[in-house]
Amino acid sequence: MHDFGMAALHHVLVFGLAIMLAMELALMRAPVIDVRRLVRLDAGYGITAVLVIVVGVTRVLWGAKGWAFYRDNPAFWTKMGLFAAIGLISILPTVAFMRWAKAARANPEFQPTAAQRAGVLRCLLLETGLLILLVVAAAAMARWPLV
Ligand code: HEM
Repeated sequence: MHDFGMAALHHVLVFGLAIMLAMELALMRAPVIDVRRLVRLDAGYGITAVLVIVVGVTRVLWGAKGWAFYRDNPAFWTKMGLFAAIGLISILPTVAFMRWAKAARANPEFQPTAAQRAGVLRCLLLETGLLILLVVAAAAMARWPLV
């Protein structure tokens, strides 16, 4: 029952993460950038990512299969690498949103330049691509070794 609860929570959080990433992409493609909404959304994205780690680590250590199952599981380490890469890439949009929020406080008319928008969009698209690979790695990890 504990394993089921953690698995359900893990899925809900992971879907939440994907939804927030998609919403950031949509906001970034709007004709006028709503900087305050982006900052709030990005905070939610960060908090959800931390919760995914907490629940994920709980599953690894106290889930039905135990640490020994994951320790020598290459798909698990692939998944962790992809998660770390997404986390590192997401720093760039976060820093950009905070800078834009500061500029918007000083000048309510502020809008990022086309180059700034393109840079953040590239990061968000890269995160999306890596998240898709991560879900594939998750399915492989749960069924390792693949036969
Ligand atoms: C955005 C990040 C993540 C996504 C999209 C994700 C996705 C998934 C999915 C879809 C599953 C179900 C796999 C299946 O049963 O077919 C799963 C299972 C699992 N995830 Fe994650 N996960 C993420 C992050 C993490 C992290 C950071 C950890 C650990 C530190 C973790 C640990 C686990 C564990 C232990 C399972 C159970 C696998 C099993 O049944 O053996 N996940 N994850």
